[in-house]
Amino acid sequence: MLIFTKIDELQYFLVQKKAEKKSIGFVPTMGALHAGHISLINSSKKSCDLTVCSIFVNPTQFNDKKDLERYPKTPERDLEMLKKAACDIVFMPSAQEMYPEKDERVFDFGYLDKILEGDHRPGHFNGVAQIVSRLFDIVKPDKAFFGSKDYQQVMIIKALVELLHYTTEIVTCPTLRDPDGLAMSSRNTLLNAKEREVAKIIPKLMQEAKSLKDKGKDVTEIKEHIVSELNMRGNYELDYFTICDARTLKELKSFSEAKEHIALIACYVGKIRLIDNISLN
Ligand code: PAF
Repeated sequence: MLIFTKIDELQYFLVQKKAEKKSIGFVPTMGALHAGHISLINSSKKSCDLTVCSIFVNPTQFNDKKDLERYPKTPERDLEMLKKAACDIVFMPSAQEMYPEKDERVFDFGYLDKILEGDHRPGHFNGVAQIVSRLFDIVKPDKAFFGSKDYQQVMIIKALVELLHYTTEIVTCPTLRDPDGLAMSSRNTLLNAKEREVAKIIPKLMQEAKSLKDKGKDVTEIKEHIVSELNMRGNYELDYFTICDARTLKELKSFSEAKEHIALIACYVGKIRLIDNISLN
């Protein structure tokens, strides 16, 4: 496994591989890797000749400084996991390397970066777009792999690909879950044992939303039920629980307004913000 920290050295290496007609799969991460990330590496390895994984905690996508400071950093463990997964190339740049100057670009995603996560984390998706476009410019991947836990992020990245005319194919991979159902996330390691017990109610409620839909309940009834379940339990601070058109992420009042439906949740357990989603089709 090759490790690069400098942009020009990685580019020099990749240009040669591209000349040899090797296809490049890319898995951008912020480190603190878990089995979900490794499943993205495995997907890339299955369909591309070479897999590049980046590890970079991108400061421009954190609207809350404390969240950035708290974000788990486990570089040695990450490298071990990537080596075991037979990842070919790791890119671990410094902040100075990625942002020698302040990135002033503002992307226009219309309503998409202003709702849900964008509403609760202003500027977050602009920061994601800044770093992903920089990484795409460096790696020029044939395919890039993202987890569907970050459903809105995947939509933003697809919009970015259109906006900047990238030829990279965006591959969305399923969310991996721990045995208790909690969606795998680097942030889960920050939960203490008590909070972890509380957090596992999230996937249960998402499943409940799905079975209520299957039983014929409409959007308002499901929302009221889930929110009141959360309120009853306490220990949560809900940012949103909502049901949307899965293609546009526009909020629904009734299932009849769209063909594909998705329920999305974001809430704090203690100081840790968790997100999850479930397809209701
Ligand atoms: O999903 C993440 O880990 C990050 O948002 C990403 C895509 C690596 C950009 O920093």
